Amino acid sequence: MKKLIVAIDGHSSTGKSTFAKAIAKELDYTYLDSGALYRAVTLYALEQGLFHENGEPVTEQLTKKLSHIKLAFHKDPQTGENHTFLNGVDVEQEIRSPRVTAKVSPVSVIPQVREHVDKHLRQWGEAKGVVMDGRDIGTAVFPQAELKIFMTAPAEIRAQRRLAEWHEKGKNATFDEVLENIRQRDHIDSTRAVNPLKQAPDALLLDNGSMTVEEQMDWFKKIVKEKWDITLK
Ligand code: DC
Repeated sequence: MKKLIVAIDGHSSTGKSTFAKAIAKELDYTYLDSGALYRAVTLYALEQGLFHENGEPVTEQLTKKLSHIKLAFHKDPQTGENHTFLNGVDVEQEIRSPRVTAKVSPVSVIPQVREHVDKHLRQWGEAKGVVMDGRDIGTAVFPQAELKIFMTAPAEIRAQRRLAEWHEKGKNATFDEVLENIRQRDHIDSTRAVNPLKQAPDALLLDNGSMTVEEQMDWFKKIVKEKWDITLK
């Protein structure tokens, strides 16, 4: 069967990456996490001290340094999963830290940062057979994607899930802090000038607030059966 591009967009902490990874496995496609690249650029800005005291990035300097930011994904030999590399260094763990999470939305608003990330994504998606997740994959990066899914869930449920994840990893945060960060990111992501988060007209809506991962996969298998007459295990 012809290889396709599957675009998964949606709000923060809706489980896009878990869902996208599971789909990629079912279809034997490559999973690409576009948010990881925005996180890697944010980590670079933190390491270079490119934030004002009010938490906003120093846009002009960061923009000038973009050509020094080399982004890549490489397969981890042990898990077989893609790890994010920043200038040759595996930063997969570091980019998920609360300090990066707190600063990534304002960095992703910068149009030149978006161009830099999009250039990489388009190059990697050209080969097709990819499942890519993010905020603007189906609307801007790959508007021609053959299958688009838009994920959402109530902010409180997303905050619960993220908090549980953080506690599992031994990270400290309160429910209110996590909820506040989620609300802020929703606001910044959906109101920015360039390619804001929105559902593409041809994207299928998946509200997973009260769905398990298995139920989401069943939903996906039904879609694939209806759309392409493919029966997945
Ligand atoms: O999916 P995530 O939480 O790892 O994304 C991190 C940030 O990157 C998020 O606040 C919004 C931004 N982002 C974006 O603007 N466009 C994308 N395609 C993916 C992520």
